[in-house]
Amino acid sequence: MDSGLENVVAAETVLSDVDGQNGRLVIRGWPVEMLAASMAFEDAAHLLWDGFFEDLPDVAQLGARLGAAREEVFRIAGQLPDGLDAVGFLRAGWALLPDDESLDAAIRLAAAGPVLTAAAVRRSRGEAAIRPDRDLSQSADFLRMLNGVVPGQAEARALDAYLVTVCDHGLNASTFAARVVASTRAGLVSAGVAGISALKGPLHGGAPGPVLDMIDAIGTPENAEAWIDGALARGERLMGFGHRVYRVRDPRADALKAAVARLPGTSGRVGFAEQIEKAVLGRLATKYPQRRLETNVEFYTALLLEALGLPREAFTATFACGRILGWTAHAREQIGEGRLVRPRSVYRGPVPVAA
Ligand code: ACO
Repeated sequence: MDSGLENVVAAETVLSDVDGQNGRLVIRGWPVEMLAASMAFEDAAHLLWDGFFEDLPDVAQLGARLGAAREEVFRIAGQLPDGLDAVGFLRAGWALLPDDESLDAAIRLAAAGPVLTAAAVRRSRGEAAIRPDRDLSQSADFLRMLNGVVPGQAEARALDAYLVTVCDHGLNASTFAARVVASTRAGLVSAGVAGISALKGPLHGGAPGPVLDMIDAIGTPENAEAWIDGALARGERLMGFGHRVYRVRDPRADALKAAVARLPGTSGRVGFAEQIEKAVLGRLATKYPQRRLETNVEFYTALLLEALGLPREAFTATFACGRILGWTAHAREQIGEGRLVRPRSVYRGPVPVAA
């Protein structure tokens, strides 16, 4: 029995390799730092879907189909009720898409991510959703649908760096959930809905909002150690630190730190975050000398998305906008294996009642 399944290998994959001992992440042969520095969302979609769909077009055509699909799915935003948070809005919207195992299903899911996330943010502010523009890149259109203006190249590039950095990460909880659902042949939409449902938990993709809450609560560098000690004494987990697989620093942390530092006007905030990071790492090392707890992807995600004008309530949905590429690729890989995922459990309940 292995309740967290850490030591269970449940899939062979050509998609990504997480080397937790050495802090390396490789996505289809690309170190994540290189991917983050050079690829747009459309490139990453092509990279991950290549070999899993016979009808996959080249990157330029794929980008055009993503743009057309953004326009196609826009109507869904108008069908969703009030009162949902951004993840709930995205999950509900995805669930309305036609569910099958085709490239069209994967494209619609990927395209709907920014359309629905931006619409959710605007709805929560009492503002009307903005129609997609198929001629923009997915990242530029995301920021335009969110803020109402076409972003500068630096901003669109920074969002690309984020989405590409989080596009896949081995057999994490949400990807495993997506593969389990795909193995039943339920369809890519069902796999994506399973993925986002697993992602929304605070121990997985729900951490970056609370990272900003922590930074705000600390307020000043002088207050950091006392605040951290108080949180640890209350048994709280410090968001943005620790990882199930990495025993060293998460390589995505530095890829994202570099991306946020390239944005104008962020140096003060990044400097403050670095001071908090240092204080947290020092306190965690003292409390858990046997267990290295390091910075994970969520810490600098929070700063990057904040700098792009995304409200913290939309961070997890934005994560899903990148990770949908991995979920759909893994779903197709699992379907190709042709085996239903069905582990076993050990019964520890009452002995059977005598007849
Ligand atoms: N803050 C304080 N204590 C921590 C933290 C943390 N961030 N992370 C682990 N610990 C403690 C645990 O409570 C445990 O203490 P205990 O033995 O006294 O119970 C000890 O360190 C060892 O924990 P692990 O077994 O290493 O943790 P696990 O592998 O179960 O959890 C997880 C990994 C969930 C990511 C954890 O580190 C955590 O809760 N971090 C904060 C949330 C977060 O940042 N999540 C995003 C992860 S990245 C991603 O999924 C995209």
